[in-house]
Amino acid sequence: MNKELKFNNGKFTIMSLGDIHENIIIDTKEKRKQREDMHNLVKTSLLAFKPDLVVLMGDTLNFRDESKDFALYKKALREILKPVIDAGVPFCYVLGNHEHDPGQEELVVQAYKEIENCLGENDPTCPRGYFNCNLLVKNSAGTDDILNLWFIDSNNLAEDQNVSMYDWVHEDQIEWYEKTAQRIKDEHGGRTIPAILFQHIPVIEEYELLREAKPHEKIFEAVEGHRIFSDRKYMLKDGVDGYLGEGPCSPCINAGQFESWKKTGDVIAAFFGHDHSNDFTGYVDGIMLGQNKTSGFCVYTDGCRSAVRITTINEDDPWKIQSKVYHFKELGLESTSLGPIFKRITDKQSAAMHKISHVAAGVAGVVGAGIIIKKIINR
Ligand SMILES: [Fe+2]
Ligand SMILES: [Fe+2]
Repeated sequence: MNKELKFNNGKFTIMSLGDIHENIIIDTKEKRKQREDMHNLVKTSLLAFKPDLVVLMGDTLNFRDESKDFALYKKALREILKPVIDAGVPFCYVLGNHEHDPGQEELVVQAYKEIENCLGENDPTCPRGYFNCNLLVKNSAGTDDILNLWFIDSNNLAEDQNVSMYDWVHEDQIEWYEKTAQRIKDEHGGRTIPAILFQHIPVIEEYELLREAKPHEKIFEAVEGHRIFSDRKYMLKDGVDGYLGEGPCSPCINAGQFESWKKTGDVIAAFFGHDHSNDFTGYVDGIMLGQNKTSGFCVYTDGCRSAVRITTINEDDPWKIQSKVYHFKELGLESTSLGPIFKRITDKQSAAMHKISHVAAGVAGVVGAGIIIKKIINR
């Protein structure tokens, strides 16, 4: 397979897949149906959008629970990625926090490396993380690099959970990014090449796409912020497309990654996974920030709206980008793994149902506690 990435008839299309969270062992009917649903979504999207590159946004498959057997892990990874492998479409990935979980990162990276259409090699000069790299994309004629793609390891949980739940992209990684960006610029006659960045855990600047919820929105629509933002409820600001199903779970420490993109001037868009419900897209200081909700059927999300993100760049102006999320229902697919209710309802309906059920559980709890207290008093 030719591993050189290039524009095709003036266009370059990327299909990104959010946290698939698939299983190593398929030992139940339910897991088999979930796998089938995910494969149907990927196969249908590959046919519909004919991407030039597929990107896995992390938390795809980890060693957790079932097995720490490397041969089994590799077999499962190939089975999960079968539609992409069979289609011969090049793909790349980022590591999710769960791929760091059991401390087997090097084996995970090795498993990907052994798949023929997997692109990207970890840059050993990056002092932190297990998979940091960049890939250049040539124009249709194959004569010039006109787009760059960054794949950044956002690490695992933070060492000190009192400081932040999630680790962050540290100063040494940011320094590696800046140095590498400078080298790329030097190698291209001082020209800055526009870049798209992929990373599992979102930058904290995503909160700039949100506004505080009004009192009436707080009941059903708004979401609670994560950690340092948890005292407020949020909605998407006007002009931000897509869906906010949960407070972005960013690290609480900001080592200046986003500021570094602005200073370097190459990153036009950054895409993230990690938050399985969110699929919004908006601009902060001219940089597009976009979420990939789960493309799988094994983890929490709202309703049945697993999705893929399709990002397109035109050769005549690679500084411009179009990116859109397609939910599996929009592709004419029907889930076999979801129950009759979740098969049909929308994200918003699902979110409202969750909240109603919590309120109902709370009310039931209060009523129940009241009855018990009354019985105790009457004794
Ligand atoms: Fe994650
Ligand atoms: Fe995840």
